[in-house]
Amino acid sequence: MSPQEARARAAPGTATVPLRVGLLGLGTVGGGVVELLHRNGELLLRRSGRPVQLVCVSARDATKPRALSLDGLEFVPEARRLVERPDLDVVLELIGGLEPAETLVRAALASGKHVVTANKALLAARGGELLALARQNGVRLAFEAAVCGGMPLIKLLREGLAGNRLESIIGIVNGTCNYILSAMEEQGTDFAEVLKAARAQGYTEADPTADIQGLDAAQKLAVLATLGFGLPLRDDKVHTEGIAEVESVDLRYARELGYRLRHLAIARRRPEGIELRTHPALLPEQHPLADTHGAMNAVLLRGDAAGPILLRGAGAGASPTASAVLADLGDLAATVPHGHPEAPLDATDPPRVLTATETLSAYYLRMQVEDRPGVLAGISGILSEAGISIEAVSQKEPLQGERHATILFITREVPEQHMDAARARLVKLPILHGAVTWLRLLHTD
Ligand SMILES: NC(=O)c1ccc[n+]([C@@H]2O[C@H](COP(=O)([O-])OP(=O)(O)OC[C@H]3O[C@@H](n4cnc5c(N)ncnc54)[C@H](OP(=O)(O)O)[C@@H]3O)[C@@H](O)[C@H]2O)c1
Repeated sequence: MSPQEARARAAPGTATVPLRVGLLGLGTVGGGVVELLHRNGELLLRRSGRPVQLVCVSARDATKPRALSLDGLEFVPEARRLVERPDLDVVLELIGGLEPAETLVRAALASGKHVVTANKALLAARGGELLALARQNGVRLAFEAAVCGGMPLIKLLREGLAGNRLESIIGIVNGTCNYILSAMEEQGTDFAEVLKAARAQGYTEADPTADIQGLDAAQKLAVLATLGFGLPLRDDKVHTEGIAEVESVDLRYARELGYRLRHLAIARRRPEGIELRTHPALLPEQHPLADTHGAMNAVLLRGDAAGPILLRGAGAGASPTASAVLADLGDLAATVPHGHPEAPLDATDPPRVLTATETLSAYYLRMQVEDRPGVLAGISGILSEAGISIEAVSQKEPLQGERHATILFITREVPEQHMDAARARLVKLPILHGAVTWLRLLHTD
């Protein structure tokens, strides 16, 4: 049913002037939005009390054959022309990237239109300025779809937890990283091999760099940390590491010790400031996030009043992301023109972001060492002098024909600078064969 038809059937008393929407981008998400508005337009009307009418669309290539039906929609060949139309209330920016998305979003906001976007890259780079522009023009910039697709995280942080002082946001926010690490864990194969298979089967972006280097997770974390901790909306303060260095042998050993490896995005309040980091980390297998497999996302939030809240769901894909876009459209339909203007998200006096060396983690260490007496005591001595307590040690006997044994350590939580100091000494040990492999480990949530 079209929004117009839905409007005709609206309950008595519902507003009948539709919210008029123009859509930029007809790819995975844009196509999903067209389809979902068609399918669930009536539900949206019932919940928001005002019809949402998709009026016109634009994409790069007007002649491209498309699987979706655009019946009844005007195709505007030039995106700029769509944004300039005076008969629209909302522009949906579903193009992605910085340009031309930024220019188009600025033009839409400046001309008094609300904008709904799924573009985390744009938000992480220019979000602060765009939100300010929205405020100046008395309109909203909504972005539920920019972080973790189908999970209503933004609304939860902005509204559901508005009465909480947030303590931590810890999440698996990149489906590609989680898919690769899950496959390495289950199949015992190396990173490069899993990535190659995932690419061949179309499970990754054509260029997966932003995913596997942790940049996509950092952009999402920047958005969440602004909402949760009032930090300025930008990703350049996020300590960012990816998963390309992870070795499958460590996933196997970690599993034997009762841990799972996941790529985490962490924003955590400490008395000295906010930890803001994305990197691979081990989790105890009973940790609420550890049981998240394949391309799924999961986020654990902790508010001082609400306590822990776990959300798990699809982080990407046409339908889940369209679900988030429709949530924003429903909000606008319910509140425009009487709704609240864009509120400043960043605090006037935001807390300090801690440096990577100030962050607290426990650690997993793997070393290959000569198999002779006194070796364990030497390593333990260095850790102890750096202020690092050992929680568990496990020694793997040398395989037949090998002279070197593998020793695994699990430490207690310490500031990263302590571990850096210990590693600088450990690598100089003459009994050491090869590198000191280390992974952070999160005991607490
Ligand atoms: N895919 C997901 O699962 C997902 C999940 C969460 C968030 N997002 C975000 O959603 C946004 C869209 O992603 P997507 O996966 O839907 O991208 P996509 O499939 O690559 O689609 C991009 C669309 O933008 C259009 N476009 C490109 N340049 C344009 C221009 N200069 N003017 C007008 N239209 C232009 C393209 O037109 P043509 O079709 O003519 O080429 C295409 O329709 C991105 O910000 C992405 O980060 C995506």
